[in-house]
Amino acid sequence: MVHVDGKSIKSCTAFAADVDGSKIITIEGLTKNGKMHPMQEAFKKHHGLQCGFCTPGMVMSAIDLLKNNKKPTDQEIRDWLEGNICRCTGYQNIVAAVKEAASKM
Ligand code: FES
Repeated sequence: MVHVDGKSIKSCTAFAADVDGSKIITIEGLTKNGKMHPMQEAFKKHHGLQCGFCTPGMVMSAIDLLKNNKKPTDQEIRDWLEGNICRCTGYQNIVAAVKEAASKM
């Protein structure tokens, strides 16, 4: 999951020519001056962690959610993240992290 011109998309299904010239931000691009993004801080604090593939996807997707919904409900967070399917975990800590980030962003 990456941000293309501010919207989260699945990079694995994007055709490179379609995003030529777009502003693309990866998980690494969220850090500013060595400081993590509030969403990253919240995931760390609440242990909303999964593998190195799933966690960045959840973080990038959750940031996109908060651009249009500043105070999502638990169900809205779960619905938004449903494309980031993983059977390795429950989503409770992730939902808690997104809610905390929403209060700080
Ligand atoms: Fe990545 Fe489950 S944590 S596949």
